Amino acid sequence: MNRFPQDFLWGGAIAANQVEGAWQEDGKGLSTSDLQPHGIFGERVERQPGDFNIKDIAIDFYHRYPEDIKLFAEMGFTVLRTSIAWTRIYPQGDEEQPCEAGLAFYDRLFDEMAKYHIAPMVTLSHYEMPYGLVKNYGGWGSRQTILFFERYARTVFERYRHKVKYWLTFNEINMSLHAPFTGVGLPEESDKQAVYQAIHHQLVASARAVKACHEIVPEGKIGNMLLGGLLYPLTCRPEDMLETLQRNRDWLFFGDVQVRGAYPAYMRRFFRENGIELQTDEQDRRDLQEPVDFISFSYYMSGCATADKSQAQARGNILDMVPNPHLPASEWGWQIDPQGLRLLLNELYDRYQKPLFIVENGLGARDKVEADGAINDDYRIAYMNDHLVQVREAIEDGVEVWGYTSWGPIDLVSASKAELSKRYGFIYVDRDDQGNGTLARKRKKSFWWYQEVIKSQGAALK
Ligand code: BG6
Repeated sequence: MNRFPQDFLWGGAIAANQVEGAWQEDGKGLSTSDLQPHGIFGERVERQPGDFNIKDIAIDFYHRYPEDIKLFAEMGFTVLRTSIAWTRIYPQGDEEQPCEAGLAFYDRLFDEMAKYHIAPMVTLSHYEMPYGLVKNYGGWGSRQTILFFERYARTVFERYRHKVKYWLTFNEINMSLHAPFTGVGLPEESDKQAVYQAIHHQLVASARAVKACHEIVPEGKIGNMLLGGLLYPLTCRPEDMLETLQRNRDWLFFGDVQVRGAYPAYMRRFFRENGIELQTDEQDRRDLQEPVDFISFSYYMSGCATADKSQAQARGNILDMVPNPHLPASEWGWQIDPQGLRLLLNELYDRYQKPLFIVENGLGARDKVEADGAINDDYRIAYMNDHLVQVREAIEDGVEVWGYTSWGPIDLVSASKAELSKRYGFIYVDRDDQGNGTLARKRKKSFWWYQEVIKSQGAALK
């Protein structure tokens, strides 16, 4: 087989806070992302008049989306993953009534996609939440946040049920273990007890959203979203194998709950040995039993685990991993491992037997605009080609893969450090880290390459 299945969905993935800008327009409230001018791991700041956060404008997708959607359509996209900014719908998070101007924006956006037969895939919460809920309730540390989230989810399911078929609950839900403010609205220094309690609330909220989606959008499909943090043992020493099993469970735990509908047995020991006592009740247990319809995940890199604590860890955007001596790395130190994607697809399918969707994969790199205006991003083409070849292999292995949305089909603000110089796009955006530039869009060499891959249903891959 050198073609992907006929109904395979091809596209790209973006997130509201990394593209939209318009941070105070049409009634939008302050989100946690608005307080992170240096990205997920940078210092959190209270906003002051006139201060600089590149995300305030980002790539101005809020105003330029018709042009961008047209370019995506030109590449042949059949799906576009984006998120709804919760703060456009409920600016503080706890209002009784939604903000009509925010709802109307996403109507316009989805209508624009419909013109080109691009199916929206919508993440309910991608690395942001209303700051009002953090300030006044303690973020996901509070049980009440479950109710606010459910209200928000029901509002958007009702509003867009004829326009949006694919939904995701929380972006990279497992990342809260590493970035609690971004994930669950808790201070970075929170202890494990607080973080796991907040995660519990978020898992319950996710399951309630799944249930609500099934009721309100019966023909829809709703998935979870995991940061695919695949780890290999650094050596074949049994200690390293065991450490790898445990470290992979750190993130698979989230999938286990969301797909199997209950906490896995291995977590009881983990909680006991770490002095964690979760406050849960019978209703939570029942809520969690609503499984997702499919599993989505991001994949950029793999890494290693070892029981030898003297080994230095390398940081990806979120996870700490021991570098693999057999793999090259990107300019940002993310190790490039196309075969890891095939492995991960097989692992997840063996474990869950549910359809999979690759909702993020791509290469962040510095691009050079040549004197004649060309952007020859052959490194990006090579990265994506090699990963897609492995997706095709996994499909041949028998894994059910619904689609592939590359991360950042258009240059956008990076999540970890809020940089624009780390570019992922097939489409270049003229803006630098200081905010200089015209915001004009320009097709890179990879634009034509991806267009050909989609048109040939993968037959153009090498
Ligand atoms: C994923 C996130 O972790 O990685 C995206 O879901 C993010 O929001 C992407 O942009 C790439 O990370 P970065 O830090 O290079 O933007």
